Amino acid sequence: MEQQHGPVIDPWGTAVRLEYEKLFQYFGVKPFAELLPRVREAFGEPLHLMRRGVIFGHRDFDKIIEAYKSGERVALVTGFMPSGRFHFGHKMVADQIIYYQRLGFEVFVVIADAEAYAVRKLPREKVIETGLYEYVANLIALGLEKNKHTHIYFQTNYETPYYRLIQMFSRRVTMAEMEAIYGKLEPAKVMAALTQAADILHPQLEHFGGFRHVVVPVGADQDPHLRLARDIADRFEHELGLQRPASTYHRFQTGLDGNKMSSSRPDYTIFLTDPPEVAAKKLMRALTGGRATVEEQRRLGGEPEKCTIYEFYVYHLIMDDKQLMKIYEDCRGGRLLCGEDKRYAAELLTKFLEEHQRRLEKAKDKVLDYVEPPSF
Ligand code: TRP
Repeated sequence: MEQQHGPVIDPWGTAVRLEYEKLFQYFGVKPFAELLPRVREAFGEPLHLMRRGVIFGHRDFDKIIEAYKSGERVALVTGFMPSGRFHFGHKMVADQIIYYQRLGFEVFVVIADAEAYAVRKLPREKVIETGLYEYVANLIALGLEKNKHTHIYFQTNYETPYYRLIQMFSRRVTMAEMEAIYGKLEPAKVMAALTQAADILHPQLEHFGGFRHVVVPVGADQDPHLRLARDIADRFEHELGLQRPASTYHRFQTGLDGNKMSSSRPDYTIFLTDPPEVAAKKLMRALTGGRATVEEQRRLGGEPEKCTIYEFYVYHLIMDDKQLMKIYEDCRGGRLLCGEDKRYAAELLTKFLEEHQRRLEKAKDKVLDYVEPPSF
């Protein structure tokens, strides 16, 4: 068993401020940085999120690298809860999906509408609409291809053996161990957790095309689901031939006030559908690592580590590592001040959003080619 000697992480918590080190300390997550040379060797240039330590942890990702190198089948599974508008925190997941798709991984993208309905208590019409026109449409606009190895599905509208898994899984877990992982659980969350285990494990079944090695790239708050899915895989090794999934963990993007980025905090979160001038305004008000006065900043330099604008560069706006480094050093050295820097970031963001939203308009007409929505 992979349970639990450390603190409970609540993947449905709204106020999570995760201390990422806990995942290493208590839960056996390994630092991703150690794998970078092997990633480079197997996949070529690592994704910027990998190079820059945004993706900071993994379980068994070394096995995925090896499987890929020896030409075995590899797939990724990840999901989105369609509970609010698609923002830059979600884009990080999209970037990873598209990176792996281009490498030839098979792709399973889950629209977690059952979870959004049951746990977030949103109306069905709302989660279906949001799933299609926020999540799927943005994924397409960001470059997700349609091909025979790419599957997007709604949790409430999939194939029978997926539901059979959820029912079978229920037999080999106890309430006590689930509550040791998640804290106090009501039936809706038990269902959501077992459903997510089926999301993660179903690509190994014959019905869905037969065994592949699976990696699940997710935000660090999702690790409890991976611990459960890995335990369930062990328990169904004989009956269903399941193997443990691998996973990677990324840091969350900070909201523009330094707290959580979330759809429920629209003033501090930039959505990919924000009109560019609205997005630019939000950015101009963002928390930076600037000092109290210009004089002080020239003398002491800024603190990019504390700056939400710098974080935007790292996560989304600047792909060239040398350019990023130069901005870092100019800020530290007191040569680049926040006003000028914000104007530059706003310019990059505006350009990105204008292009993205042009693609998004076209993508909206294509969502139904990618996924079949539930009828209610
Ligand atoms: N629980 C995830 C979230 O809150 C969504 C999700 C559902 C998911 N099934 C998944 C993520 C499977 C990764 C793999 O966003």
